[in-house]
Amino acid sequence: MTDAAKLSLTGKELEYPVMSGTIGPDVIDIRKLYAQTDAFTYDPGFTSTASCQSKLTYIDGDQGILLHRGYPIGELAEQSSFMEVAYLLLNGELPDADQLGTFDRTITRHTMVHEQLATFFRGFRRDAHPMAILCGVVGALSAFYHDSTDIHDPAQRVIASHRLIAKMPTIAAMAYKYSVGQPFLYPDNSLSYTGNFLRMTFGVPAEPYEVNPVIERAMDRIFILHADHEQNASTSTVRLAGSSGANPFACIAAGIACLWGPAHGGANEAALNMLREIGTPDRIPEYIARAKDKNDPFRLMGFGHRVYKNYDPRATVMQKTVREVFAELKVTDPLFDVALQLEEIALNDPYFVEKKLFPNVDFYSGVILSAIGFPTSMFTVLFALARTVGWVAQWNEMITDPDQKIGRPRQLYNGPTQRSYVPLTER
Ligand code: ACO
Repeated sequence: MTDAAKLSLTGKELEYPVMSGTIGPDVIDIRKLYAQTDAFTYDPGFTSTASCQSKLTYIDGDQGILLHRGYPIGELAEQSSFMEVAYLLLNGELPDADQLGTFDRTITRHTMVHEQLATFFRGFRRDAHPMAILCGVVGALSAFYHDSTDIHDPAQRVIASHRLIAKMPTIAAMAYKYSVGQPFLYPDNSLSYTGNFLRMTFGVPAEPYEVNPVIERAMDRIFILHADHEQNASTSTVRLAGSSGANPFACIAAGIACLWGPAHGGANEAALNMLREIGTPDRIPEYIARAKDKNDPFRLMGFGHRVYKNYDPRATVMQKTVREVFAELKVTDPLFDVALQLEEIALNDPYFVEKKLFPNVDFYSGVILSAIGFPTSMFTVLFALARTVGWVAQWNEMITDPDQKIGRPRQLYNGPTQRSYVPLTER
């Protein structure tokens, strides 16, 4: 605590403690404000509100810095693995070789889903969006794994966390298989977390599937880039749902529902659709003009971010990964050229410069995922798969936080004041 913030309101002089973290902006502790003044703060979108204390992820949006437990995302993406990052987020420190081996084996042993869950899928239409399936099936996990829903038991919390991280690739792959009418594949635990997911998604029972190590590494890196991201909309949703004591499976399902929105996880799908719509570089100026037109709701998808007012550090890694995957698969995609040129033009346009609108992680992820073979409808599913690690880590942190309370924002009411009911015949 460094200082106190002074507030003068309705003739009262009040002081509120200022709390300092290890880095980042200080926060003013206004927990007593309402009791002392009968006033709330007004902050739609929580742009100036810290909803919790956290040791997990730090973002400096002006500098374009993203740290997981202190480690820069670029270093993790280059040198680490998704399993290692998952361990780091859950436990606070990087694992040694033994710890990583044990963690990896534990996750691997939870990859199968209850056989009854497969029949659950069959209730969905074949053309259902895989996010709709994911949302429903993950919510249903609480009906399958009762023995890990007591949030007050630390051992059950650990098992539920491992189950969610382990089963998500299986469920995501099943959602895909169902949509294309192919049989589900059981996990093969001789493969890595990511290799296993690729096989369950793209393999068929009729022939062996060989995991391409370059694609496996690229996919693992994409998972690392999406593992956690501070108190974003879906993470806040998970925490808010969890604050009432809801079980972790239900909370993660709530996070998935929030992530689906086009302003959040759905942006990579929207970004690729936009690149397809633009089609060729000569049409870029038309779309830039539309993005700048106040009367046109069109926005450049994959551009801008609530927190980053600089290049999203994840976009840098993503752009490099696109090049590696294209080289390995020996493919070219004219949309990648459109994306590169669009970025170049936007970064030099005063509208985007003044508003500090830079490419975010989603700008390039659609191009790469589509080259690997995923349909656009699966993009947000992949994001959810990776973010499950962050959601679970954040949920665990919240449950063990002594300051934790049920989330209950207030409002500025500006509807009608009290009035008497008028019977239908008199209206
Ligand atoms: N294209 C054109 N103009 C934009 C864009 C964009 N992509 N993003 C923001 N702006 C403009 C707004 O029109 C607004 O202009 P104004 O000040 O003249 O009214 C200004 O920049 C600020 O925009 P806000 O919406 O107020 O900024 P906010 O921080 O609330 O929004 C958001 C962030 C939602 C991500 C926004 O930039 C956006 O819609 N981007 C496109 C969707 C997208 O890529 N989302 C991915 C987010 S990353 C993720 O979820 C992993």
